[in-house]
Amino acid sequence: MGTKVVDSAPAFQRVAIIGLGLIGGSLASAIRKHQLADCVVGFDQRADELALGVELGVIDQAASSLQAAVEGSDLVVLAVPVRATRSVLEQIKPWLSNDAVLTDVGSTKTSFATDVEAVFGAIPPNVIPGHPIAGSEKSGIRAANPDLFANHKVILTPADNADRVSLARLSRLWEGAGATVLTMSVAYHDEVLAATSHLPHLIAFSLVDTLAGEDENLDIFRYAAGGFRDFTRIAASDPVMWHDIFLSNRDAVLRVIDHFTHDLGELRGAIAEGDGATLLRVFSRAKAAREHFTKMLSGQAYVTNNSDQQVIFQMQPGGSVRGDIRVPGDKSISHRSIMLGALAEGVTEVKGFLEGEDSLATLQAFRDMGVTIEGPENGLVRIHGVGLHGLQAPRGPLYLGNSGTGMRLFAGLLAAQPFDSELSGDTSLSKRPMGRVADPLRAMGAVIDTAEGGRPPLKIKGGQSLNGIHYDMPVASAQVKSCLLLAGLYADGATSVTEPAPTRDHTERMLQGFGYDVQRDGATAKVVGGGKLEAGVIDVPADISSAAFFLVAASIAPDSDLTLRHVGMNPTRVGVINILRQMGANIEVLEERVIGGEPVADLRVRSAELHGIEIPEDQVPLAIDEFPVLFIAATCAKGRTVLRGAEELRVKESDRIQVMADGLAELGVETTVTPDGIIIEGGQTIGSGTVESHEDHRISMSFAVASLRATGPITINDCSNVTTSFPDFVELAKQTGFNIRTEGGS
Ligand code: S3P
Repeated sequence: MGTKVVDSAPAFQRVAIIGLGLIGGSLASAIRKHQLADCVVGFDQRADELALGVELGVIDQAASSLQAAVEGSDLVVLAVPVRATRSVLEQIKPWLSNDAVLTDVGSTKTSFATDVEAVFGAIPPNVIPGHPIAGSEKSGIRAANPDLFANHKVILTPADNADRVSLARLSRLWEGAGATVLTMSVAYHDEVLAATSHLPHLIAFSLVDTLAGEDENLDIFRYAAGGFRDFTRIAASDPVMWHDIFLSNRDAVLRVIDHFTHDLGELRGAIAEGDGATLLRVFSRAKAAREHFTKMLSGQAYVTNNSDQQVIFQMQPGGSVRGDIRVPGDKSISHRSIMLGALAEGVTEVKGFLEGEDSLATLQAFRDMGVTIEGPENGLVRIHGVGLHGLQAPRGPLYLGNSGTGMRLFAGLLAAQPFDSELSGDTSLSKRPMGRVADPLRAMGAVIDTAEGGRPPLKIKGGQSLNGIHYDMPVASAQVKSCLLLAGLYADGATSVTEPAPTRDHTERMLQGFGYDVQRDGATAKVVGGGKLEAGVIDVPADISSAAFFLVAASIAPDSDLTLRHVGMNPTRVGVINILRQMGANIEVLEERVIGGEPVADLRVRSAELHGIEIPEDQVPLAIDEFPVLFIAATCAKGRTVLRGAEELRVKESDRIQVMADGLAELGVETTVTPDGIIIEGGQTIGSGTVESHEDHRISMSFAVASLRATGPITINDCSNVTTSFPDFVELAKQTGFNIRTEGGS
């Protein structure tokens, strides 16, 4: 955790740097450059390096002995080779003052802690081991660079008894040098570094050595192109230092070498056997992971969500909404296309896939279970299905980000796998109820553990055989229905689900599209286990739930005329159109067609005088995700709008009734919140203000729509999650006439 710089006074008075190599020298020069101490004293047993330190201005003073360096210093930094640590500690111990902070910069921390214990008997509270994750293949004081640590991480590994003040002072010093300070345990540090730093160095050394030993080595090096150069750059690092590191982090490094050797053996086997599928699977998983890291490192999100980063929408009031646009692919269908494609036999091609974080998390989870997935590239995805019984155990928990749909549907399909699995998510998802799927799955024979209150993470025990059940759903939920139908594919006998009101039926339609028989009888859908899915082609329509923001926008903003192309018009999703039309909206449905089993149309929407209505309760499940923006429509309408029977909104990504009411109140709009809905008196003025969207994407976008009729600017906080469902929202909003600017994010 970074500790903030609280004042500008130097963190230390006299800093002794023992060892003037690249890191010691760079730290000394950073301290001098940023005036982080009154005086930097250097010591190195190589007299010439020490003299050079003074000559180059890296240090203020050269100490003639360890005693001269350490005595009177309030910070002592050991920057010596890891294997010299113990002897240096023994030598400096008599001269170290009781309140001096002692740290190091070594790449392995267990060995430093062991050396300190050996010399001092225990780890004294003001010894704080450290490791800057910065370096270069260059060594020596001539390579010292005061900016080496800028924008790099420094890991401190304080013991439990560490002195908090010493920790804060040391953190302040590193932060003053431009670094970000993290703290973790010694053991965790060594595991992480073995994998991310030590193993790559070992492979680079080994690869160059192997090639240098080949007969044609001269030619190999002469023709070696960019890939070789990039990959082996770190083989030019200091051999003595690295020999120290491997010997001192022996156990953690051995574990990761074994893991790597095993995986390399598998690739060898695949090449020997001409097994292209395995190669493609591993390479595409690695490519996706590499892109994921690149984005993470540059501060963007991919499968993990973006919510660490504050993104703010700044809206200026007014505007008309005009143009001809296609919003991104349907989220529900995108999730299901990956799921069924992965479980099918053959290759499924998906067009129009939503490249939002929620559906990408689903895609990544299948890659983690051994499915080869090419893309997405411009909405195109090719899934190499493994069949209903072809998934492999994931190595760790499957992280589903913000996605309730992901977690609930996965629960169903993982309940009958032969392996254990764990499903986790972000803070919002971790608060959402999962008992609604865990309970009926348990009735089928699944073994599932949840956190308190039926919340995530879900721990699913593998190897259970499931029995078909009939389930009368207490709440109308497509997620619960889909979860049970997916589990039903694996169950003995029939699994049937009856819903209290119609909910989206994409799972049923897509199963049928993949050749799996789904019997539908009124409110009941039924599957019989033991069949198989055949790969197909899926054309994902534009998401009506994303289109909804523009339907309301063009209805409420004066002088608007907007066409939305290729919008999914599944009868279980068109509640928003039915409700808006009842309120007097001018929405034309054009070019109706059926594509890949789903109805699609173009929608033309123009400004209209809306009026309040009592929203029919049967429309609630059909517009379940659209209420936040419908509340904005109701605010702009003439007369009263009443919503009832919508308590489900309280357990979505946020409590969408309360959060919307709070945000409207901030803008001067009064509403009456009821346990299962809201009453909104239309015609109120939407004022200026700051609203909190509680990291709920649909709340953020709804208040962006509200700005079209506001009398002053609106600031919307916590908008990073808009990318979970609608990655192009800001561009499309700008293009059609919203006055939107984002702050933060990347
Ligand atoms: C979804 C179903 C709905 C909806 C969610 C997506 C789906 O949830 O709110 O955004 O894809 O099945 P419930 O089924 O829980 O109502």
